[in-house]
Order: sequence, then structure tokens, then C-alpha cells
Amino acid sequence: MQIVISINQCITLIDFLQPNIYKRGLNNQRISAMSAPKDVQFVHRSQDRYLLPIPGFLEKRFQVFDEIIMPRKNGKPLPVGNIPGYGAIVLQSNDYLNVSMHPDILSAQISKLESANHEMVMSAVFLHEGSDKDLFEASMAEYSGFVKSILCQSGWAANVGLMQSIANQSTPVYIDFFTHMSLWEGIKSAGAPFYVFMHNDSAHLEKLVKLHGEGIILVDSLYSTTGDFAPLAEIIDIAIRYNCVSVVDESHSLGTHGPKGSGLIAALGLTDRVHFITGSLAKAFAGRAGIIFCSKRFSQYFPFTAYPAIFSSTLLPYEIAGLSATLKVIQEGDDRRKKLHENAEFLRRGLDQLGYATVSQSQIISLEPGSEAEMELLRDVLEEHNVFGSVFCAPATPKNRSLMRFSLHSGLEQSELQYVLDVCEAIRDEVGMWNWKSTKRKNKLNTV
Ligand SMILES: Cc1ncc(COP(=O)(O)O)c(C=O)c1O
Repeated sequence: MQIVISINQCITLIDFLQPNIYKRGLNNQRISAMSAPKDVQFVHRSQDRYLLPIPGFLEKRFQVFDEIIMPRKNGKPLPVGNIPGYGAIVLQSNDYLNVSMHPDILSAQISKLESANHEMVMSAVFLHEGSDKDLFEASMAEYSGFVKSILCQSGWAANVGLMQSIANQSTPVYIDFFTHMSLWEGIKSAGAPFYVFMHNDSAHLEKLVKLHGEGIILVDSLYSTTGDFAPLAEIIDIAIRYNCVSVVDESHSLGTHGPKGSGLIAALGLTDRVHFITGSLAKAFAGRAGIIFCSKRFSQYFPFTAYPAIFSSTLLPYEIAGLSATLKVIQEGDDRRKKLHENAEFLRRGLDQLGYATVSQSQIISLEPGSEAEMELLRDVLEEHNVFGSVFCAPATPKNRSLMRFSLHSGLEQSELQYVLDVCEAIRDEVGMWNWKSTKRKNKLNTV
């Protein structure tokens, strides 16, 4: 059976996500491909909505969602808690340098929109030299110390496009277990064989490379769930010794670390030894784009070989104007970076003293309650105290290792962070912190 989905049907699909509604038609009978009479094509629900019968394979997928993801006390998926109210401390945004409302960035976007003259809405393959995109790419390349950069529609598009265009079925790919999902998706898109090395374990990586030969090594510089750094010098050294291509995702360190925020690879003096750096510009750059730092040769190759670059439209000029203004704010943002790192150090130290186990070395600080039930309790108790973090659970983490991520930013005052610490201190018994697996691991390590 072939399904063609129209806009009306999409609305109906959204309805399907609401348990109890999607399973019943107007006359309160269960509707499914199995039970619908053959001559019934759809059930009329309202003037412009129709409920189609669902084939069994799709029904099963929805059921998994209903049974595993949905049954939370508030009737919403686990990552969706309450809406923060007045005075809430919200530690959810990746706008680490607190620039998203910067007047220079807003006015650059507004004036570009106001002066726009029938902008072309199309794929970047049709752009000429000297376009806004081209000029922004040149300034980003100079900033990073790479010869070239390529602006992509998102960090996801950058990673998937990069992997699809450099790997194929005969390219071994070595990937750290905690590396971002977009790089895993890139491997899938390339159809490449992959070998997973244990998190931050360069010796394990080296063993795998010796076994399977030259290929591509994938790591994040700063891991987005745990907030720890990759041992970049060791990993790049292995890449060079075994003739591998290195790809470092700097989404969470671009803007926040290194000289003028140019990243960890730059901070470590490794720029000339790395093949590719990728990044999302939806973190410290607070935009909606991605970037690849690369060689001149690759910059000519990618736009005509990577599917996300060819078959998906490019950024609009006002978005690029905003990013150009953001680059300037970030380059001049040493004070913001200093404040961010002070804030992060303050919260990390405080949580550690309270007995919480966190492996963070950065502005991403996660608590690990473990099971989803423990996570739900922690989220609800924190929210009752007006503290909002981000819930990470499967598929973003392994099942039973769900995390509460606090993303800090430079606009936070230490009094606010002290309040978070006071709350975390007060709720330890209530949320069962002493019994979390992560706490027990920490205590065991401390007694060894
Ligand atoms: C490490 C990492 N890489 C890539 C991405 C994807 O970036 P974007 O949101 O711009 O698609 C993210 C976003 O969550 C990320 O954390």
C-alpha cells in the first residue's frame, strides 16, 4: 500500500501523536488498517480533517511511541516539562555567550531584510563568487586559521554532507561512542563500515586503526551531553601516524574556547594537523547554520558532491548578515568567555562538593540520575524550585543513562548559580541522589 501524505493528512498525523484521539474515530470505534472495512477509505472528523486507516507497520511504530515514550505523569514526552515562568533560572539554551539579542546582530538582520531586493531562494550550487555566503566563508576561514570554510544550513547538514562526500562502503570510520548523532547519520548516509571506540580512549582507537587500516576518525572536541573534552592531541597524533583523515566537531567549543573563540583545535595549536573541523552555528553563534573548515580543494568539491549542499536550499542573506555581525561580537567577546568559564567553574565545583557526580570540564554540566523514572522525578523537583535544565534520554543517551543537562551562559549571575546549588543541596534525598548509579561510581572511585 502506498501512502501519499497531503497537508490535511499531516495535520491528522499530528493528531495521531495525541494518545486516545488517534485510535478512535467520531463514533468512538478504533480505526486501524486491520479493523477498517475495505470500502471505508477515511472517517470524516471535521470539515477539513480526515482520519485514514493506518497500515500495521505504522501502527506498530506509533504504539512504541505511545507505550515507551509517552506514558509520563504530565502526559508529555520526558524532555518536555513545564514552561518556565517568571523568575525561572533557565539553563537550556546553547547561546553560551548570551549574544542572541545583541543589538548589532539584530540590526544587521533587520537592515538586510529592509534593503532586500527579491532575494534568490535556491540551492548554493547556483551562487557566484563574491556572494554574501562567499564573503562570510572567507571571514570564518580567516578566523579559524583554515584556508577555507563552507557555510551549511545546519550542523547536521555539515556533518551528514561531509561524511557522505568523503566516505563510502570501503572507508573504515572510527567513531567515539559519544560523538554526535549527525556524524553517525553521515556514516549511514555514506554506507561506510564503522568501528566504535570507547569514550575518550585513544589506546582503544589505536588498536582499532591498527586492525582495520587507514580511514576517517570522528570525535567531538567537547561532548554535548557530558561536557568533557576529547584528548585531541592524542587522537590527532594517531590520525597522522596511521594516515587517517581527522574530523573534529567543534559545535560546543567554537566561540567559547581558544583565541577569540576560534575553538579548541586552535587553542591547542593543532590547526595544521587536522583535516576537517565542523560546527553548528546554533550554539555560541546563536544562529541557525553550520560550518566546515577545510582545504581549498575540498571547498571546491563539496558544493557539487554533498547532497545536503546540492539538494537543499542555502541560507537567506539576512541570516548571513546576522552571522557576520555575530562573528564580530564573538571575536570581541573575551569578557563574555571569561564570565562563562567562571560561571562553569563555580557550578561544577559546587555540585562536586554536594556529592553530585559530573565529568564536565566546561559550560555543559550534566547530572546523571540514570533511569527515566529517576530523571522524571529530578526534572519535576527542579522545576518546582524554578530551575530548568534539558532532559537527555534515549535516543540521545543510552537507555538508563539519562541526563539532566545544564547549559550555562555568560549572562548568568553567580547569585543565580548559588540558588541552583542551594536547590541541588536541598533536594538530594528527595530525588534519591545518593542512590544514583553515577553517585555510586563517583564514591567508589574516590575510595580506590
Ligand atoms: C556536537 C553537535 N554537532 C552537531 C549538531 C547539529 O547542529 P544543528 O543543530 O546546527 O543541526 C549538534 C546539535 O545538537 C551538536 O551538539
